[in-house]
Amino acid sequence: MRIQDVDPAFRHDVLQGLSAEPRAIPARWLYDPRGSALFEAITTLPEYYPTRVERSILSSAIDEIAALTGPNRAVVEFGSGSSAKTPILLSQVSPVAYVPIDISGEFLTDSAAALSDKFPRLPIYPLIADFTRGFALPDAINGAPRLGFFPGSTIGNLVVPAAVDLLRVMSTNLGAGSMLLIGIDRVKDQEILLLAYDDPKGITAAFNLNLLHRINRELGGSLPVDGFRHVVRWNDAEVRIEMHLEASRDVQFEIDGWAFSIAKGETIHTENSLKYGLRDAFVLLRAGGWTPIAEWTDQDEFFSLILAKQGSALSAP
Ligand code: AVI
Repeated sequence: MRIQDVDPAFRHDVLQGLSAEPRAIPARWLYDPRGSALFEAITTLPEYYPTRVERSILSSAIDEIAALTGPNRAVVEFGSGSSAKTPILLSQVSPVAYVPIDISGEFLTDSAAALSDKFPRLPIYPLIADFTRGFALPDAINGAPRLGFFPGSTIGNLVVPAAVDLLRVMSTNLGAGSMLLIGIDRVKDQEILLLAYDDPKGITAAFNLNLLHRINRELGGSLPVDGFRHVVRWNDAEVRIEMHLEASRDVQFEIDGWAFSIAKGETIHTENSLKYGLRDAFVLLRAGGWTPIAEWTDQDEFFSLILAKQGSALSAP
C-alpha cells in the first residue's frame, strides 16, 4: 500500500497519538484485515468469556426476546453479522429486513453473503459506514419499526461520553417505536478480566502488537515491534480494562518523516474496555435515549443482554 492510499485519519491519529502525553492511538485502528482475523481468534479462546457467554444468554432468552419485540421489524446490526449470534436472532424474531452496518466493506460482504445463504428470503441491505460517526438507513426499510442489535459489548470500547453520544445517534436514527438489544460486559473479578485480555497463547498480544506492524506497513514506519510488549491493566477508577504497548527498552523510530523516541517502560495506550454494573448499564442506556425493559444474564452474572425501547424521560417529574 502506498502512503498516499492510506486513510488520512489513520495517519493523523497515529502521528498525533504518538506525540500526545500520555501516548494513545484510538482502538478502531486495531482492526485491519489481520487485526480482525486475530479478534475472531480471540472470541474462540476459553479465557475470553464474553462471546461464549453472550451467545448462550441469547440462545436461552431468544423466545422471550421475540415475544417482546414482536415480528416484522427491520433488524439493524451495528458491526457486521457476528457469525453465531445473528442467525439466532434472525431465525426467531421474524424480521422483514436485515441491515448490517460496518466500517469494513470486506467483512460486511462476507457476512452478508453467509447470511443470505441461511435466510434466502430475507432482504439484506449491507451499509458501509463508521456508525460511531452517524449513518443514514436505507430507504428500503422506511415504514418498518427497527430493532437495533449491538452485541459483543463493543459499547465498552467507548469512554462514557462517547458511548452516550453513540446511543443517542442510534436512538435518533432508529427512530420512534424502535428497540435496541445490546450486550454489556459486567464488572467482575480482576483476575478473570486480566486473563481474558492477556491469554496464555498470546493471541491478544498479537492482536495488540499488530497495530505496530500496521503502522510500519501502511505508514512506512520503522517501529521495532520486538521493542514493545502487550500490557493489560485494570483501571479501577475508570472501571475499565486497558491495553497498552510498553517499550521494553529505549526505542527510536520514524513514521512518514516524523521522529519519535519512547523510553523504556513508557506505554502507548491502545484500547479501553469498560465494564458496567447492571444499574450503571441502565443509567447509561437512559442517558443515551433508551429505556431498559428486560435484562438477561448468565449464572455468574458475567455479561448482560439488555432489551430497551426508544425514548427516555428528559425531565421529571
Ligand atoms: C470488540 N471488543 C468488544 C473487544 C473487547 O472485549 O473490548 C475487543 C478486544 N480487545 C482485546 N480483546 C478483545
